[in-house]
Amino acid sequence: MSPTDERVEALLARMTLAEKVGQMTLFTTDWGQTGPTIRAGYADDIRRGACGALFNSHTVAFTRELQRIAVEETRLQIPLIFGYDVVHGYRTILPIPLAEAASWDLAAIERSARVAATEAAAAGLHWTFAPMVDVARDPRWGRVMEGAGEDAFLGSRIAAARVRGFQGGGLGNTDAVMACVKHFAAYGAPIAGREYNTVDMSERYFREHYLPPYAAGVRAGAATVMTSFNDFDGVPASGSEFLLTDVLRGELGFEGFVVTDYTSINEMVAHGVAANDAAAGELAAGAGVDMDMQGAVFQRYLADSVAAGRISEARIDDAVRRILQAKVALGLFDDPYRFCDEERERREVLSPAHREAARDVARRSVVLLKNDAAVLPLARDARLLLVGPLAQSRVDMLGAWHGAGVADECVSLFDGITAAHQGKLEVERGCDIDGDDRSGFDAAVAAAARADVVLVAVGESAEMSGEAAARAEIGLPGVQSALVEALAATGKPVAVVLMNGRPLAIPTVAERATALVEGWWLGSEAGNALADVLYGDYNPAGKLPMSVPRSVGQVPLYYGEKSTGRPFDPASKWTSKYIDLPNAPLFPFGFGLSYTSFGYGEPGVDRSRFRAGERVTVSVTVTNTGDRAGEEVVQLYVRDVVASVTRPQKQLLGFEKIELRPHEARLVRFELGEEDLRFYRRDMSYGSEPGEFEIMVGGSSADLQSVRIVLE
Ligand code: BGC
Repeated sequence: MSPTDERVEALLARMTLAEKVGQMTLFTTDWGQTGPTIRAGYADDIRRGACGALFNSHTVAFTRELQRIAVEETRLQIPLIFGYDVVHGYRTILPIPLAEAASWDLAAIERSARVAATEAAAAGLHWTFAPMVDVARDPRWGRVMEGAGEDAFLGSRIAAARVRGFQGGGLGNTDAVMACVKHFAAYGAPIAGREYNTVDMSERYFREHYLPPYAAGVRAGAATVMTSFNDFDGVPASGSEFLLTDVLRGELGFEGFVVTDYTSINEMVAHGVAANDAAAGELAAGAGVDMDMQGAVFQRYLADSVAAGRISEARIDDAVRRILQAKVALGLFDDPYRFCDEERERREVLSPAHREAARDVARRSVVLLKNDAAVLPLARDARLLLVGPLAQSRVDMLGAWHGAGVADECVSLFDGITAAHQGKLEVERGCDIDGDDRSGFDAAVAAAARADVVLVAVGESAEMSGEAAARAEIGLPGVQSALVEALAATGKPVAVVLMNGRPLAIPTVAERATALVEGWWLGSEAGNALADVLYGDYNPAGKLPMSVPRSVGQVPLYYGEKSTGRPFDPASKWTSKYIDLPNAPLFPFGFGLSYTSFGYGEPGVDRSRFRAGERVTVSVTVTNTGDRAGEEVVQLYVRDVVASVTRPQKQLLGFEKIELRPHEARLVRFELGEEDLRFYRRDMSYGSEPGEFEIMVGGSSADLQSVRIVLE
């Protein structure tokens, strides 16, 4: 037995059943306008050893006080774990995760999570409820902003990078927090994009497109996993033995502890699979849940279920063991206050270095979608009109799930432009984010007439995406599109900056704008990062991690569609298509422009036939054909030409972000093996099938050149 195991077993042997169940109980504290409070009942719970972890409790001062109760006033002195949704930053707010995914820059994403973890740990936290790795193909769902987009391969690489970033050099370090891979599983596919709705998909589709990022997070060493609210194949995730035991423990080998989502045990009553909370608790514990978030079901009923023989004490011990092991790994038994260092908190939280890191990842997250007449970058001495309801917003730059972020500590676009611009600058609001008030249009249009170039910031407010923020219409809210159209009608060049948490269906704006920049919600340094891009101090290189639809009617929309029996043919009515819209997205997955341009040579392979154990090298020459240095994300996709089941027409299999000087050319190589071509075959076994594969290379999922290889 390892020293950790010995310690845990010795403690377990001294615990009463009630104390064990206490470790399986997680409660929130209340953090209101005036600061934190702890409900009287919860303080008693801590004293009785009836609660082993708390969330929404942060800052050194507050966590120290709570920890003191746990280690000085309880029988066994077991320290508490403190968790929080540090999703894209604690106090220094980094770009929303969907934005960061657009960077395709794994090092930057890992650094971002490291910044978040360093601050969180300095503020007394041990645990973040992140990364959210739910693949999402329906932008009506508000939580697409929290994930990495529509693709399992990109999502898996990002999931691992975030876990590495949060857990840093390992949980023994005081600048690391436990990661929590969530929401297990398939939460990102609610029917009709409606929050908390049913999920129903084939096991094949689940395993191929939804499971991989969770698996990657677990493989990267995530200490915890959170269940999801939804049902899956008829069983709510928090009561699914298939998901929590067979797949998570059995197949993925997960050894940490499983926490539910907020009251999701209780919700099994509303799902109609449990008659009451007690029965729901038994479903959850039996399926493999180790910790009950906020529902108090375990606390109230689990000991009785054990006494009645419906849940074994061995199952309880198994859960408690995992939780205690995490506390040992965090070093809390050696020093329960090791995350309680005021000096460190002052030094780390919102440090200049963290702000600088936030600015860097923010500009890497920007996607340039259109740039006619090279209207961007802006000239610093131009007569500039800055307009739009988001131009001066700080609070929306935080985005949803912004931890302890403070609006006034954010740089708005206006702040960033003011710092960078040297010529005449006028500012107009134009309209609100929502509503139908056009009374500001005239002043904006008049100001446009006096300007050389118009910069418009439109999009969503931070509450319009995130949890419980599904939208049935995914255009620009209110009269914002009309504002852009009115400005464009002046004939002046109009550069539109979008600020949003989901892909927006904005065909008219995209057509009328001279330039279009996807600026998401970029966090504390949003305005500075945008100014870096808009003035060309940074050459944008982001690529969309999610397809942007033309219309909500096209969703779910994703690049990796399967082949159908009636492939799209513009000339034939009887093929898979709409009669009123193209099938193609407004902007495809993987797409993004630069201030320079890149040329791709024909891809080549070092061998066209290969077998298992051999490697094929795919190579392509990429040239910077412009006069400015720039970065490009070179993407590799595959199609299995004939297989025992229908396969995606394109599937991302590799990418590399390269930087090229003006006119520099580079040979980019990707290595492939038989293992990269595996999938769930007709009989659900995982493996490859011999035959022909089309390998595609390019700078976007919709602009690829191909070469064929044969697996023997
Ligand atoms: C969300 C989780 C989150 C939890 C705790 C839930 O409503 O679905 O993602 O971690 O609340 O704040």
